[in-house]
Amino acid sequence: MNAQHPIQRPRRLRRTPWLREIVAETRLHPSQLIQPHFCLPKESGREPIASMPGIERLGIRDLIETVGEDMKLGIRTVLLFGLAEDGCKDSTGSASGDADSAVTNAVRALKEEFGRDLMVMTDVCICAYTDHGHCGVLEDGDVKNDPSLPLLTSMAVAHADAGADIVAPSDMMDGRIAALREGLDAAGHEEIGILSYAVKYASAWYGPFRDAADSAPGHGDRKSYQMDPRNAREASRETALDEAEGADMLMVKPALSYLDVIARMRAETHLPVVAYNVSGEFSAVKAAAEKGWLDEGAVVYETLTSIARAGADLIITYHAREALREGWIKK
Ligand code: PBG
Ligand code: ZN
Repeated sequence: MNAQHPIQRPRRLRRTPWLREIVAETRLHPSQLIQPHFCLPKESGREPIASMPGIERLGIRDLIETVGEDMKLGIRTVLLFGLAEDGCKDSTGSASGDADSAVTNAVRALKEEFGRDLMVMTDVCICAYTDHGHCGVLEDGDVKNDPSLPLLTSMAVAHADAGADIVAPSDMMDGRIAALREGLDAAGHEEIGILSYAVKYASAWYGPFRDAADSAPGHGDRKSYQMDPRNAREASRETALDEAEGADMLMVKPALSYLDVIARMRAETHLPVVAYNVSGEFSAVKAAAEKGWLDEGAVVYETLTSIARAGADLIITYHAREALREGWIKK
């Protein structure tokens, strides 16, 4: 190429907005966005979450109202997290499998209201229900794997009984996909899918969520079960195992520090890849935007686009509602 007279001019395809649009390699559609919700164990109520501006814990009536509004924006998939009723946390998180919990009641109400127009996913993990806040049964200071599986299985079955479309185990116990699949099938829920939090890192970006769901570990951390941020090959191992155990979709979490892992998984599996743009990733943008240090809409657009470009088919994000309402991503 002659530097004075280049034949190749990439700028030719950047000349006008429409030209840029027709050669865009990545497109975001509202159907790719999943809005998370924190469900209160009561009929009504809205509790703001200090570290997550614009996100509230919702009673059932308020959840129905909010989801109804979101559906008008094009958000038709939700991921539900439940808060435990006062005084019901214990060492094994036994309330997690109740047929009458914040999540099961929310699922029933949502399905009654919206039926098949809404895809209801539920998070399956006992940490919001254990008095120690860990994601599995604690014995002698260690989180025990196999004793946790029946608890997770009953929780998933309770959610499926209530009408959940997809259950999403986030605990990171080994073998839980096989255990859930077996339990769901035995309960007649062969049709209910499993979205595995297959590749979930022990991350500092979950901080605000733990306030929101009241699920912070009372002592220690989650490093004996969540993945080490230094590892990517291990993500391939988790992917292969969960696929073999019967997962229907695979998640990478968090998203932004792990875009390389999303790309790796996209190359390795034929299953849908889901990325979780987690609470801290949301709150950091919110805080900077409140200070006027970042253009929130532009940052959210670029963030969600990067996650899709890395290879995620679906994105769980607290930004979903505003991104659509404010036109940060086009409908
Ligand atoms: C619970 C769970 C967590 C998140 C989803 N499910 C927290 C954790 O593992 O400590 C994090 C979600 C977020 O930060 O938005 N197992
Ligand atoms: Zn947990």
